[in-house]
Amino acid sequence: MPGSTLPSPKGTRDFYPIEMARRRWIEDKWRKTSVRHGFEEIDGPTFEHVEVFTIKSGEGIVSEIFGAFSGKDETQLENLKQGHAPFALRPEFTPTLARMFAARAKQLPQPTKWFWQGPCFRAERPQRGRLREFLQWNCDILGMGGPDQPKERATADAEAIAVCVDLLASCGLKPSDITVQINDRHIVAGMLAECGAAGREMQALMLLDKRGKIPEAEIGPMFAAMGVDLARFDAMAAGLRAPRVSDSPRFADLGVALASLGVEEWCAVNPYIARGLAYYTGTVFEVIVDGERAVAGGGRYDNLIEVFGGPPTPAVGFGMGDVVLSLVLQDKGLMPTDAQITKDLGLRPDAFVISNGTPESDAAVAPLLARLRGRGLHARRSYKATKNIGKLLKDASDAGSRFAVIIEGAGEVTLKNLDDNTQDRGATDAMLARITP
Ligand code: HAM
Repeated sequence: MPGSTLPSPKGTRDFYPIEMARRRWIEDKWRKTSVRHGFEEIDGPTFEHVEVFTIKSGEGIVSEIFGAFSGKDETQLENLKQGHAPFALRPEFTPTLARMFAARAKQLPQPTKWFWQGPCFRAERPQRGRLREFLQWNCDILGMGGPDQPKERATADAEAIAVCVDLLASCGLKPSDITVQINDRHIVAGMLAECGAAGREMQALMLLDKRGKIPEAEIGPMFAAMGVDLARFDAMAAGLRAPRVSDSPRFADLGVALASLGVEEWCAVNPYIARGLAYYTGTVFEVIVDGERAVAGGGRYDNLIEVFGGPPTPAVGFGMGDVVLSLVLQDKGLMPTDAQITKDLGLRPDAFVISNGTPESDAAVAPLLARLRGRGLHARRSYKATKNIGKLLKDASDAGSRFAVIIEGAGEVTLKNLDDNTQDRGATDAMLARITP
């Protein structure tokens, strides 16, 4: 198609250098925060056998799968014609993590604390905060707190929440900006059963997850059709709410654990948080800013490792996406300037080499660059034809360089510190020695 350009597929993003630097800034924070909290990084394949996701993640996510197949396999092509792709681009990482943990459960330490970050794919309708390819950061704690160890379980839940809160705080967010809304599926399923959903608790939970996302006038009749007395549920839910997590008797252990990690003021009990994924078994939480889709979501999934052939293993974790996080940081003016991001990521050039315009100095530019780079420094030059030193110095400062090195002739340079605008002229070796990483 000469003359016309192609956009990226619907719901995906092209990352030009500045968008890429912003993305790296977030990824860098994710990685550093996980490491600070004692999580180790893992990775798995971008695509999985489709069953890995159909087995336990639930209807919602399965309906958004991007199918994938190998063009090398005739049987797969047949399957595809019938609408069954054998592989799926991962819509989330938790089933892969469960599969990996189950395969090595015997050798792995207890608890195992893993983090992961990478792209996920969901064929959702693109809208504010929702794309078809996005980045997710996950932290998960496996093998801590058995069924009869409520305090250890609460500690694991609180540790997962604390690493998430630490990330938010390190971006400059405050408890008044954002809340970790916590609930417990086990408790809510019991309440729903009492209100008429006995035997259909999971469907009722999934409907509860839709509350607030689709109009109340539509949800009411849907609960009624299930035989659920919503007014009664609302009355029971009101009793679960409390200003602080530790004030809600059913969340007392978690409240204490959150308080001891210093993050309780970021949290609140919200009896309407249900979460859309099918595998959650107890504590669930979502990180919410008014008017936006969730920044992060997670919870306890104590049966999933067994589903993948491993031993019974308690597990808790969360996933945070880059899309809503970026929107929130931009809206609150917390996304740093491009210059600051370049600095934070260590992308500032150390030296920008300029010729004074003589043929000998021009020829000395490349060797000087090689010398600086050989010392591990980030060195650049201008590719412009101009010999105007003022213009070249402007290029150096536009690139954010720390120093400009102007080649003055045989064995001599001017070293200009672009941060404080001081300069000195002298022998090349002595001047270059002043540029340290
Ligand atoms: P999730 O709630 O489906 O949970 O996704 C977690 C986060 O990923 C969301 O809060 C949101 O920030 C981001 N996200 C999800 N879908 C999209 C989308 N279409 N566009 C942009 N961002 C999106 C999970 O995926 C669980 N596996 C998390 C988990 C880990 N639970 C335990 N461990």
